[in-house]
Amino acid sequence: MNQSDHSYDSRLILKAEDLKQHYHVKQGLFKPDAVVKAVDGISFNLEKGKTLAVVGESGCGKSTLGRMLTMIETPTNGKLAHLGEDLLALSADAQAKLRQKIQIIFQNPYGSLNPRKKIGAILEEPLVINTKLSKAERKAKALSIMAKVGLKTEHYDRYPHMFSGGQRQRIAIARGLMLDPNVIVADEPVSALDVSVQAQVLNLMMDLQKEFGLSYVFISHDLSVVEHIADDVMVMYLGKVVEQGSREQLFENPKHPYTLALLSSTPQLSPDKRRVRIKLQGELPSPLNPPSGCAFHGRCSYANDRCKTETPILRLDSEESEEQGHLIACHAVEENRIDAIAVGAA
Ligand SMILES: Nc1ncnc2c1ncn2[C@@H]1O[C@H](COP(=O)(O)OP(=O)(O)OP(=O)(O)O)[C@@H](O)[C@H]1O
Ligand code: SF4
Ligand SMILES: [Mg+2]
Repeated sequence: MNQSDHSYDSRLILKAEDLKQHYHVKQGLFKPDAVVKAVDGISFNLEKGKTLAVVGESGCGKSTLGRMLTMIETPTNGKLAHLGEDLLALSADAQAKLRQKIQIIFQNPYGSLNPRKKIGAILEEPLVINTKLSKAERKAKALSIMAKVGLKTEHYDRYPHMFSGGQRQRIAIARGLMLDPNVIVADEPVSALDVSVQAQVLNLMMDLQKEFGLSYVFISHDLSVVEHIADDVMVMYLGKVVEQGSREQLFENPKHPYTLALLSSTPQLSPDKRRVRIKLQGELPSPLNPPSGCAFHGRCSYANDRCKTETPILRLDSEESEEQGHLIACHAVEENRIDAIAVGAA
């Protein structure tokens, strides 16, 4: 263990620094490869028992980030540390061991649950592969985790198709818990569920977080879904973070025009919390050919000439202290133009 391993904050479960995933995409026989900057320089700290929500429209890079955090994909750049240990410097064996501690749950549990296997076998599979537990011990563990997620003993011998969408997501969560992880990356875990079932699954996830001290990276395209579960929120746009801060900062004092637009398009949120109503116009630009300057400029009512040429840097909100850590990448916020226009528009 080197010196830096001793100096990490033991509450810090996951630390990401400048993570990037740039994909090379074939354009045709005689054309050079294009580069998709799916994730382009993301940094965050995730503490024990906390939830980081990652929010943004389809294609902004959320799942790509999730695949890097769970080591399904190696970043093209950046650092990733788990409990102070550099994940990318580990041997393949050590990485495989650590992968058990960082589990992923997907949007569509049916797609990831083998339809020919019974729930008991599905849950015990990670134990068969990764532990030396006996058959009886594996069954005991499966039944105990099933109880934690609200499944009954008799469900052990049933097949996935015999369950509702919400129950299947409970099975997927149970499977994610079988190896006692400390991080769960949940990629749109409730997006495919009815609104009433969404709340049940979110409540379950919050209960499990408390009981097991889990840290979550919770990915969603919908800000309203993360309002109750998030401690911190990261808003992404075309691979970059445009605003990052605590739940209070993002919901009570949002600053970036894109965050304001996402909040405005979320009817469930109480209107008194919104500072400005902005309608999100147009489509997300192609990541193969992103706009110059601020990638949001073609859709932003605050854009000026500077926005078209100069990429805004993610920096601390000037109205708050460094410890508060509210980060925004926007020239208009820096130039104090957002409130002026909002007042004029009101
Ligand atoms: N293996 C790959 N090769 C090339 N491009 C990719 C690859 N995987 C993802 N992309 C591109 O990277 C960008 C980000 O994709 P990603 O799936 O991470 O977005 P997302 O935010 O999860 O979207 P959604 O909300 O639709 O799930 C998209 O433009 C996507 O087409
Ligand atoms: S930098 Fe300019 S274009 Fe980008 S969000 Fe801010 S005002 Fe809009
Ligand atoms: Mg995705």
